[in-house]
Amino acid sequence: MSNLDFIYKRHSIRRFKDEVVPLDDLQEIIKAAIHAPSGKNDQNWHFVIIRSKEKINEIVNVVEIKNEQIAAKIADKDIKSFFTKVLKYHTAFRNAPCLILIYAGIYKPTGLEEFKAINESKEAIQELLDTAPGIQGVAAAIENLLLAAASLGYGTCWMTGPNYAAKEISDAINFKKEGYSLMALTPIGLPLDQENKRPHRKSVEDIITVIM
Ligand SMILES: Cc1cc2nc3c(=O)[nH]c(=O)nc-3n(C[C@H](O)[C@H](O)[C@H](O)COP(=O)(O)O)c2cc1C
Repeated sequence: MSNLDFIYKRHSIRRFKDEVVPLDDLQEIIKAAIHAPSGKNDQNWHFVIIRSKEKINEIVNVVEIKNEQIAAKIADKDIKSFFTKVLKYHTAFRNAPCLILIYAGIYKPTGLEEFKAINESKEAIQELLDTAPGIQGVAAAIENLLLAAASLGYGTCWMTGPNYAAKEISDAINFKKEGYSLMALTPIGLPLDQENKRPHRKSVEDIITVIM
């Protein structure tokens, strides 16, 4: 047993038992999520919790329709067939008892106004924007959410695949918050099977540079 087991315990779950996730547990999980750090402590996140299976499957439908509409316009056969084939990874929340949508609010990177004030180049400004600190904070909250859920025995799957239907998803649930955009979603529920598939990880040696 290691103190880091709560990290190794989490893996993406795409099939769930037909059991409701109690609101208390969801609140505990969101509480853990919002203990994540955020730039300037801006906490530019918002979570929409959907506990209606009917609504969740309506969102599945919305993604399927959008996928079909996009695919219908694609002339290249390979691109089209790939996009259709991966649809199941964009609807992996099908039949989940709960779905959490994660929205991010506008966040101005430190230095942006200053770069503009000194007429920095477009490239330098873009490079600064590319660091997306506002998204980094929300991503930290998402990871906290997944780890907290796993610690309580729930399965989740961080998903950005359905984002091409972001507008349609928000419309379907009639959710609008000024300045906020859908970043990701995750189903949450008791895992249907205790699959312990561990997708390959690069070795630590391959992904670090140590400077002495
Ligand atoms: C930003 C992000 C987006 C992802 N989008 C999807 C997705 O749309 N559909 C899906 O089935 N899995 C998605 N995943 C899950 C990854 O496929 C999964 O994390 C990866 O294969 C490693 O497996 P593990 O989570 O079980 O460790 C996403 C993960 C991340 C971090």
